[in-house]
Amino acid sequence: MTKRKRTTKSPTIIVQGGAGRITDKQSHRRGVQGAALAGHEVLRGGGSALDAVIRAVALMEDIPTFNCGTGSALSIGGRIEMDAAVMLDDLSCGAVAAIERVRNPILVARKVMEETDHVLLVGRGALRFARRMGFKPHDPATEKRRRQREQIIRQLKSGREVKYLDRLASQMRGEKLGTVGAVAMDATGRIAAATSTGGMRLHQDGRVGDTPIIGAGTYADENGGISATGHGEQIMKLVLAARTACFMAKATAQKAVDRAIRLATRKGCECGLVALDRRGNVGFGFNSKVMSYAYVTGGNLVVF
Ligand code: GLY
Repeated sequence: MTKRKRTTKSPTIIVQGGAGRITDKQSHRRGVQGAALAGHEVLRGGGSALDAVIRAVALMEDIPTFNCGTGSALSIGGRIEMDAAVMLDDLSCGAVAAIERVRNPILVARKVMEETDHVLLVGRGALRFARRMGFKPHDPATEKRRRQREQIIRQLKSGREVKYLDRLASQMRGEKLGTVGAVAMDATGRIAAATSTGGMRLHQDGRVGDTPIIGAGTYADENGGISATGHGEQIMKLVLAARTACFMAKATAQKAVDRAIRLATRKGCECGLVALDRRGNVGFGFNSKVMSYAYVTGGNLVVF
């Protein structure tokens, strides 16, 4: 890895609250704004980029509007299986996939990074690890999400002999894309990226999306940091976050994101990206109808 001199940087953070269709825009705006400001407060107080992205993402995990933590989408089997990852520009990283019954998967991902020599823990193993680390049982299902799932399943079944409910459900999945994420640079120039999701609604039990796959939904290296949202299967195939980091080697975050989104569009991948390059420039883009995002740079707050 190339070494670079770290000079004092202006603390910067960009957060995203998911790409796709947003029905409750005000709530999304409040959520991403609050997360960006909370993360920026950490940075202004001299905190690390890692602490800032964890604060921002954990805050969004606690807001039921977002599809992550409390408020996560339910699987076809009625389960909540969450994915989360965190990564630093020195390639330190930790992730959990298909984890159930915890409040903040991003905090567990951080523990994977800091307390194990692994990158990714999944399912029951991830849950056992979380309990060993002191994370208490928590039911992330909200009544609203349960009702949504039941309603869709009723709709799908109406008047039909349903043998393969999953095949029918796949037609409905794209309507609720969503993930949250944050990328930050602290005063030392260090960059961190974090992403968290409840996955696609009505996904098959055991499905894992792009979010916890290092290089797909979350990535950071000496070029910058990236958090992705959107259609996980397609994002994984394009290794979109790592590609965006490669693009940032010779371009600003915005130019790199634009290039990655053009590629995604050509390949039929509905998604959104937020990024920060090593000079502290923010980049964001999406090819879905909308993406909720907010950033604070040079002391100014911008909300979608
Ligand atoms: N991008 C989130 C997911 O597909 O799981």
